[in-house]
Amino acid sequence: MASPKTLTTLADENTFESRFIRDEDERPKIAHNNFSNEIPIISIAGIDEANEQREEICKRIVEACEEWGIFQVVDHGVDTKLISEMTRLAREFFALSPEEKLRFDMSGGKKGGFIVSSHLQGEAVQDWREIVTYFSYPIKSRDYSRWPEKPEEWKKVTEEYSEKLMSLSCKLLQVLSEAMGLEKDALTKACVDMDQKVVVNFYPKCPKPDLTLGLKRHTDPGTITLLFQDQVGGLQATKDNGKTWITVQPVEGAFVVNLGDHGHILSNGRFKNADHQAVVNSNHSRLSIATFQNPSPDAIVYPLKIRDGEKSLLEEPITFAEMYRRKMSKDLEIARLKKLAKEKQLQDLEISVKFEAKPMDKILA
Ligand code: OGA
Ligand code: NI
Repeated sequence: MASPKTLTTLADENTFESRFIRDEDERPKIAHNNFSNEIPIISIAGIDEANEQREEICKRIVEACEEWGIFQVVDHGVDTKLISEMTRLAREFFALSPEEKLRFDMSGGKKGGFIVSSHLQGEAVQDWREIVTYFSYPIKSRDYSRWPEKPEEWKKVTEEYSEKLMSLSCKLLQVLSEAMGLEKDALTKACVDMDQKVVVNFYPKCPKPDLTLGLKRHTDPGTITLLFQDQVGGLQATKDNGKTWITVQPVEGAFVVNLGDHGHILSNGRFKNADHQAVVNSNHSRLSIATFQNPSPDAIVYPLKIRDGEKSLLEEPITFAEMYRRKMSKDLEIARLKKLAKEKQLQDLEISVKFEAKPMDKILA
């Protein structure tokens, strides 16, 4: 029997399957390694002391969130060794055989494990990535049976990584709460019992990187995301609704921080929910580790601060679960319409080909 296929196996084949080919308007507009320095790189050394330096750091963070919803943090205090252990183990996981990885297959709705491409059902085109994901907070709902037991130290290292990133996220949310004129725990409190999900993305090198995406354009649904990426490059952001894109410069040891829809709504749109995607390339595989901090599903979502003259982004308070459900059904509807439009385009093409073919037949006859 042929061995099961993962992307890592497909990457070695000569053909490129049409299920990865994006419509022209979705394809990459700028190369994976054409780096921009527009996204601020902010050192947060000294952020724990109340002084002028802290104020300066906070100001930079707030400005970045207002303009892009993305910035990079360095001197964040997460141990370099822990990060390199985490990335080493992640690489080891993706290097396992397809059979080993598929033992943790999460298709069919399982909470955590391994999967190829995207998790949205009904998408016409698939992402050029593999992921392994686990739910790390709240601690009481951890299901270790969905955490790979290979490589061996995985569980121990990922637990520590999760904890450190949770506290860094909360620290950054404090800065934003204060900027909104609220008490410093306001944003974390709005998440009730904060959820955390870690998604390790592996983007194998790709024979046709210009036709596809590693991860299609999206905003993250939650509050705040911390992304660790290797030095290959591929994360792209847009702040003009997809007209122009920039590739985020990889910075050794940094986390790319971005806000999601929940952070956007709590600030009533003051802070942006970064619009982003990941592109791939034909020379190098790429690894990124995204850590998502989300409110608990039953947390009530409503702007915490509506400034004078502003209208609320939400008509009424809803739960995060409901907010997520609406986002998914909207995305699915867009995917469905795109698919329909594509089929219609094909049909029209066939009709016009037939129509035009007639005189040609006559000429040839
Ligand atoms: C994500 C994400 C970007 C990347 O996982 O939500 O946006 O560069 N990842 O892997
Ligand atoms: Ni994302």
